[in-house]
Parts: sequence; structure tokens; C-alpha cells
Amino acid sequence: MKSLLKLLILFVLMSTNAQNIAIRGSVFHFKSDPEKSTDAYEYFEDGLMIIEDGFIKKAGNFNDFKDEIQDFEFKDYSGKLIMPGFVDAHIHFPQTEMIASHGKELMQWLDNYTFPTEGKFKDKSHSREVAQFFLNQLLKNGTTTALVFGTVHKESVDAFFEEAEKLNLRMIAGKVMMDRNAPEYLLDTPESSYEDSKKLIKQWHGKERLQYAVTPRFAITSTEKQLAQAKRLLEEFPDVYLHTHLSENKSEIEFTKSLFPEANSYLDVYEKAGLFAEKTVFAHSIHLSENEWQTLETHDCSIAFCPTSNLFLGSGLFNLQKAAQHNLRVAFGTDVGAGTSFSILETMNEAYKVTQLRKAFASEPESVLPLSALKSFYLATLGGAKALHLDRFIGNFETGKEADFVVLDLESTDLLKFRLQRCETLEEKLFVLQILGDDRSVLQTYIKGKPVLN
Ligand code: GUN
Ligand code: ZN
Repeated sequence: MKSLLKLLILFVLMSTNAQNIAIRGSVFHFKSDPEKSTDAYEYFEDGLMIIEDGFIKKAGNFNDFKDEIQDFEFKDYSGKLIMPGFVDAHIHFPQTEMIASHGKELMQWLDNYTFPTEGKFKDKSHSREVAQFFLNQLLKNGTTTALVFGTVHKESVDAFFEEAEKLNLRMIAGKVMMDRNAPEYLLDTPESSYEDSKKLIKQWHGKERLQYAVTPRFAITSTEKQLAQAKRLLEEFPDVYLHTHLSENKSEIEFTKSLFPEANSYLDVYEKAGLFAEKTVFAHSIHLSENEWQTLETHDCSIAFCPTSNLFLGSGLFNLQKAAQHNLRVAFGTDVGAGTSFSILETMNEAYKVTQLRKAFASEPESVLPLSALKSFYLATLGGAKALHLDRFIGNFETGKEADFVVLDLESTDLLKFRLQRCETLEEKLFVLQILGDDRSVLQTYIKGKPVLN
């Protein structure tokens, strides 16, 4: 009787965990960068995607393999757009509480709002509550992978990873290292930041779909001693990420130079400290010299372009074209809470405007090209995955990739529907979605082949 019960439980568990589904809808994904190839994407208007055990088995035309789906649960999203889940390459989960706080620029905004808010994350139950809300917001916006700042407190990152693990999410996060230029209650020490980060790496890096990022906040809040401890972590654990801020704001850059007078530039502080890891992600990177661009290219660094944050704090206009000229890996970041939305669609809208606005300040405005819809959706999916060195797992619908994807409703608002009816080409439609889309466009988000929104 007992073994029968065990068998029954096993059967129930297996049937609920087996994500074997066939999805019909308009399937769209990238195979490469649309700026580098004329054959960069696939679009199957009446498409079919077969998912086995949470991984992509096939994606193509419905008619080509509709006979292979008898053993799969069938879900019909005809008329909806299905694409890989969005990637957010820079976001602060503890700042969810203070998004949309008014006033001034980066340094004052940190002092007035960010630091007091982050002080609350010593409390693990508070961290857990915010992490749950945060992850839910990501999923509602179709974001399935993010690179995430915690706070200085180890508890905040433990709580974040625990919640992400429950949802089986592919997430990267790290404890902030900061030992100066912030209130006492937010400071660690070089030694404690090393010890806490190491414990977190051992506990979480490579567990399920989770990975760790060594996270010195920015040059201003770390002493050289602390940066040396960050380097030590990267040497001991070469597979973890390095995640920090770079050249966001002009006063920040001046302050950095005064703290590190021997450095030739902001980026040189990180270079001298030995922080170029295999996987290095710099948020912002707005005000860079030609030398700094070159160094980023030499070290194959990634940049998180955070347009809503850069506009909100008045930080500046990121030069995406320059990043492409230097062959840099680029992804979108929302940078919540300086960023004003969790939505990558809204972030793409603002990214377009940032590239347009660059014309007003360029010596040769005609050389500033408008950001294309194809490039935008590429950056939000496969480009984002490449920037996070995760493209062997996620980013498109190649066979064997993890089935994290989003179902977009192209009739989610009257205006979107009305405008899309007047589009002729796929590219036109994508552009309208980029400009008018938001969380309402996300009908469903799938994680490893399972729907997660009610
Ligand atoms: N630079 C250092 N810390 C932060 C932060 O929390 N947000 C932003 N946007 N920039 C930073
Ligand atoms: Zn940030």
C-alpha cells in the first residue's frame, strides 16, 4: 500500500514537472545580430514550438510538423507573438520600493532615497517580501533573466536567490561591496565583503539556474583594499561575473578621479584594480573617452544600456552606435529604481528616443542613425543573452535552449490594435510594439515551458 502511494506521488510529480507542450502562434526569434547579417531572424507567422522537459525541441511552421504533437499538451496562441523572454542586464531589486523618487541627480538621489531604503535589507523577511514582489514584476513584464544588485547585506542576496530558486528562474545577483562614502549602516569592510561574497558564491553560484556576480557598487564607494578583495574573488572563482557602474554622471566621474588620482580615467580605476573578469558587465558607460572605449573592446566587456534611468537622473545619452563600432556586447537594463519601468518594451521605447536625441548634440547629426526595431528586439533577447554570456542556454529558440519565452498580445490596447492594423511589414509592426507596448502587452510568460502568470 505504502509503495503504491509512493508510485502515485511520483507519477503526479512527474506529470506536473514534465513540460511537454506544443505552442501555436507567431514565432519570432533571432539567430544573429541584424546589423551584421541579412538573415538574422526567423519569423513563422503560423508557427509551432515544441517543448520537451522544459527545453526547445523544435520551432518552425505549424504545417511542417503539426503531425508530431499528439503526445504534447497543445496550447493555441494563434494571432499572438511568441518570442524569447526578455533580458534585463542591470537592475536593483531593493530599489523597487523607491522607484519614482523625485529630484536632483545621481549623487543626491543616492543620499536622499537609495541609501535609506537599502538600509532596511538587513532584515531578511523584508528582503524576502521585496524580492517576491520584484520577481513578480519582472515576470509580468516578460523578463525571464536579470542581472541584479542586492544590498550590502548578505541576507538580501540569500532572500533573493531563495525566491528566484522557488520560481526556477535563470538569475544572476550579488551582494554589494561598499566600504566608504555611504552611511555607516551600509558599510562593510574589505574582509567582511570578501567573506560574505565567498559564502554566497559557494551557496548559490551554479545552483539550479542561479549565478553569482561580484558587485562592488562603484569606484566611489570602495577603497583600493576592497577592490583588491573583489579581484581576489574573481581569481578564486573565475566563472563568476563582475558587475558594477561605470561613467554614469559627470560629477561622479570627477569625484572618482579625485579619489583615484593615479588613474588615467574612470575605467582605469577598475583596470588597475584587476577587475576585468571573463564576464564583466558595466552599467551605463555614458561619458567615455576613445581610450576607454578601446579598453572595453580589448577586454570584451559588456554594457547595460539603461535609457529610462539615464533620462530620469539626467545622466546623459548613451552612444549605442559607438558601442557597435567597438563590437561590444550590449544589453538593455532597466536600472530600477533610477529606471522608471520594469518593462523592457518601455525601455526599448526610451532607447529609441535616446538615440534620436543624440542628433541634437552631434557635430554631424546625419551620422546618428535611428535605432531599428530589429536591433532593439535583438538586444532585448539574444543580444542580452550574449551580453550576459548566457546564449548557450537562452536568448532564442534553437533546439536545446531553455524554454523561457513570452506571449505578446498585439491587441492589448485599443491604440496598439488600431495602429498595428495599418502596418504592412513585420519590422513596422515590431516598431509600433516597441513604442506603444508595455506590461499590458504581456499575455503570458513561460519559464522552462511552464506558464507563470495567472
Ligand atoms: N551608482 C552607484 N550606485 C548606483 C545606483 O544605485 N543606481 C544608479 N543608477 N547608479 C549608481
Ligand atoms: Zn544601477
